[in-house]
Amino acid sequence: MCGIVGYIGDGNAYNVLVGGLHRLEYRGYDSAGIALVDNTGKLNIYKTKGKVNSLEAFCKDKNTESKIGIAHTRWATHGEPSDYNAHPHFSEDGNLALVHNGTIENYKVLKEALIEHGCHFHSETDTEVLVQLIEYIRVHNDCSMLEAVREALKQVVGAYAIAVIEKGDPDCIVAARKSSPLVVGVGDNEFFLASDASPFVEFTDNVVYLKDEEIVLIRRGEPLKLYSLDNKENEIDVRKLEMSISQLEKGGYPHFMLKEIFEQPSTLHDCIRGRVVNDGKYITLNGVNDNKETFMSARRIIFVACGTSWHSALIGKYLIQDMCRIPVEVEYASEFRYSHPVLTPHDIVIAISQSGETADTLAAIKIARGMGAFVYGISNVVGSSIPRETHSGTYIHVGPEIGVASTKAFTGQVMVLTMLALTIAELKNTMPKEDIERIAQWTLRMPELVEKVLGLAPDIERLSLIYTYARNFLYLGRGYSYPVALEGALKLKEISYIHAEGYPAAEMKHGPIALIDAEMPSVIIAPKDHLYEKIVSNVQQVKARGGNIIAIVTEGDDEIRKIADHVLEVPEVPECLTPIITSVPLQLLSYYIAINKGKDVDMPRNLAKSVTVE
Ligand code: M6R
Repeated sequence: MCGIVGYIGDGNAYNVLVGGLHRLEYRGYDSAGIALVDNTGKLNIYKTKGKVNSLEAFCKDKNTESKIGIAHTRWATHGEPSDYNAHPHFSEDGNLALVHNGTIENYKVLKEALIEHGCHFHSETDTEVLVQLIEYIRVHNDCSMLEAVREALKQVVGAYAIAVIEKGDPDCIVAARKSSPLVVGVGDNEFFLASDASPFVEFTDNVVYLKDEEIVLIRRGEPLKLYSLDNKENEIDVRKLEMSISQLEKGGYPHFMLKEIFEQPSTLHDCIRGRVVNDGKYITLNGVNDNKETFMSARRIIFVACGTSWHSALIGKYLIQDMCRIPVEVEYASEFRYSHPVLTPHDIVIAISQSGETADTLAAIKIARGMGAFVYGISNVVGSSIPRETHSGTYIHVGPEIGVASTKAFTGQVMVLTMLALTIAELKNTMPKEDIERIAQWTLRMPELVEKVLGLAPDIERLSLIYTYARNFLYLGRGYSYPVALEGALKLKEISYIHAEGYPAAEMKHGPIALIDAEMPSVIIAPKDHLYEKIVSNVQQVKARGGNIIAIVTEGDDEIRKIADHVLEVPEVPECLTPIITSVPLQLLSYYIAINKGKDVDMPRNLAKSVTVE
């Protein structure tokens, strides 16, 4: 939610910042802005409603000369998307400019106090309160910007990643974070600052990930300085970035989403590499074998996640209950955190998050840790907050996911969950060794089989034309295919804005069946598994009510072919691996329908890639 970029060096700050904003646009795109100090010491702030392209158009005839600046792309929380609510915000005297990602929960109280002291506000945002507060402290305490930022942050309740520049000091950026990500790139005589490393990956691979409640002083020509909120100097830990520029480009595809769908054979390969070894005879997953006792003695596993990651978690439940015989609960992180959860030190909480930054998931982790549970994290973004907040965990290693609609992260998460379940099953001896080995061998074949499924793209593109203008969709599945139905419906909703409902197929007759008519297509996920005969009767029930059916079936399935209007055949795999195979045609279907409708699939309205606010 909201992307921040900062630059200080000898290069053209405007170019670096705007390039960076384009990379961060997946985080929010309802307005964008930039603040630059020119060589005469003038602070120029340009901001506008709309995407980064609109900001560029707005800046065409403006003075953008500068070697220092900060910039922002916004996902609105407080105040509608508008020019005046766009960041950067500035202090009333025009001395400071600030960009912010997060939410200041006590902004109203702070605002009222500042108004009493004579401050005037120009926006409806919580952010403007922060910049006015910093300047108020700086002037009244006659202190440096660094000190003023520190004092102001002590008064703030909420989440923030901020960067501040001062007109009178064109050689310095002060930045800080709490619960919202911020990373500094250390180049040759230049520094970069951003919500993630993507804006500066072509300039440097030396990065410093800021920790919670850390303030960084970035001064031209001097080494970085890191401080805690109570003014202790912290050590600088420079890491090497594992990200390449090609991962951040569309690579010839019209959209990131399509690129990411088609990347899945290779991302699955990366996800399995080094983990399923010796032809499936040995599986090793970070953080499990070194916590053997904890996993072997767990009385319960509770998943916490949001959105697509929650759907993966639901698949995790089926996997772990099937293979490890441990009771599993799956919770929306946002509900879990306010549900007075009952946890004990014998519970394992598994948090799943692509971004590693989702605010609700982070809050759930903190609660679980506080109650003594062991917390394991599954995320994609290296250096993000969730891996830092958990006791142990692993990465899915699918590379940066930029399309707002999650695709390759979903299949990566399911693959990691499969390996996790197999690992625990082996530790606990809850599955015959040969079955573990057989499934592990199948995981190695998944990249090649997903490649085959991608060959359905032209058929799915044609099929999408028939249903582009449907107003409602029903997605049905049972067992492992039920979470896939939920995920298929979410993909369609978020990028095509068509109402779609995912449902357990057998539950349909308890209500949703009333909706079925020729106008409402049903997508039925019906691979050959132990519930196959049951789902065949669900397919018949839909047909008997005049519904149109698109069925995802196992190759060679003649039974459903006779009933359904359209079938998409996928290769036969063990039941626990079907979600990886059956979700891919659904990703393609939603992509093509959205394209037919002329929607912006990479940046769907109202959404942002990582949700770092409640
Ligand atoms: O980064 P996370 O996995 O924690 O994100 C959770 C959801 O915000 C995310 O999965 C969202 O639902 C996606 N847009 C789905 O495509």
